[in-house]
Amino acid sequence: MSLDHAVAKPHDRMRDALSDDLDAVNTLIRTRMASEHAPRIPEVTAHLVEAGGKRIRPMLTLAAARLCGYDGAHHVKLAATVEFIHTATLLHDDVVDESEKRRGRPTANLLWDNKSSVLVGDYLFARAFQLMVETESLRVLDILSNAAATIAEGEVLQLTAATNIETTEAIYLQVIRGKTAALFEAACEVGGVIAGRDAAVVKALAAYGDGLGIAFQMADDLLDWGGTSGAIGKNIGDDFRERKLTLPVIRAIAAADDTERAFWARTIGKGDQQDGDLDTALGLLQRHGTLEATRVEANAYATRAKAALAALPDHPLRDMMRDLADYVVERLN
Ligand code: IPE
Ligand code: IPE
Ligand code: MG
Ligand code: MG
Repeated sequence: MSLDHAVAKPHDRMRDALSDDLDAVNTLIRTRMASEHAPRIPEVTAHLVEAGGKRIRPMLTLAAARLCGYDGAHHVKLAATVEFIHTATLLHDDVVDESEKRRGRPTANLLWDNKSSVLVGDYLFARAFQLMVETESLRVLDILSNAAATIAEGEVLQLTAATNIETTEAIYLQVIRGKTAALFEAACEVGGVIAGRDAAVVKALAAYGDGLGIAFQMADDLLDWGGTSGAIGKNIGDDFRERKLTLPVIRAIAAADDTERAFWARTIGKGDQQDGDLDTALGLLQRHGTLEATRVEANAYATRAKAALAALPDHPLRDMMRDLADYVVERLN
């Protein structure tokens, strides 16, 4: 094993191992994101696709199918479907969150407007459904249409839960399982389904995706408090400014004294924020050790994801999936 290979990030190794499949996915994405009838569509989609994106979810679909021995062509369609669903939710999410940066670039809502983001997002959802129908598998349609509904539910639940300082960890988990883990889970699961694997393998793939997705979102929520803007392609403290309660804050509120509780009620509950509040908030998270506690929690879900892999065939892609579970949490260090 070369040094390069040893230190390369797991998703980069996956990208290498799946490069032919991924090229086919990217070609399919480019073809299907076009539109002859509405020029705004290719403008917006090209902006997003050229910015890249890690393609983690479609890689998981390809990896799941390949490690299950699949040698047909439907996995490429499923991977493109998954990425379209993901991209559509990002377009909508950036409108809802009033975000200005995505994939290191200005968001579509900033460059064009909310209307374009919402409608092009709808278009991508519809294109995703067209693609998955081409696999002629009702089970796949069931899994991916359920995931799409669950993502939307998670985002809507977050609307009401996120600014309410009474929100519990259980509700937070329900939100992130919906908005993020559901698609990771489905992405993995359909790979096993298309390969015709038995229930035990499909279930293990789903469990891996669920654990990975939860760990991924917890890590993302943590990075919002500590990563650097350039490194994550987003702005720091967005969640605080958006009044979005995430695990570090939920735990800090649980440990708060009266003064601290009043601070959270004002800044997140009422949205009355002043200069210096972000620093105060960060200080409270540090005082109660909730950033570290969130890291531990994310790690526990990554461990669950890795445990699920035991039921899958021994395969280099399985090793990369294991390393990916470690990496989503390690990127915090
Ligand atoms: C971003 O997902 C949305 C979250 C669930 C936090 P990714 O970080 O996978 O986004 P891209 O596709 O690589 O930009
Ligand atoms: C990402 O959620 C969008 C979905 C998972 C649907 P967030 O709002 O938490 O993530 P970022 O920070 O915008 O990527
Ligand atoms: Mg967002
Ligand atoms: Mg959001």
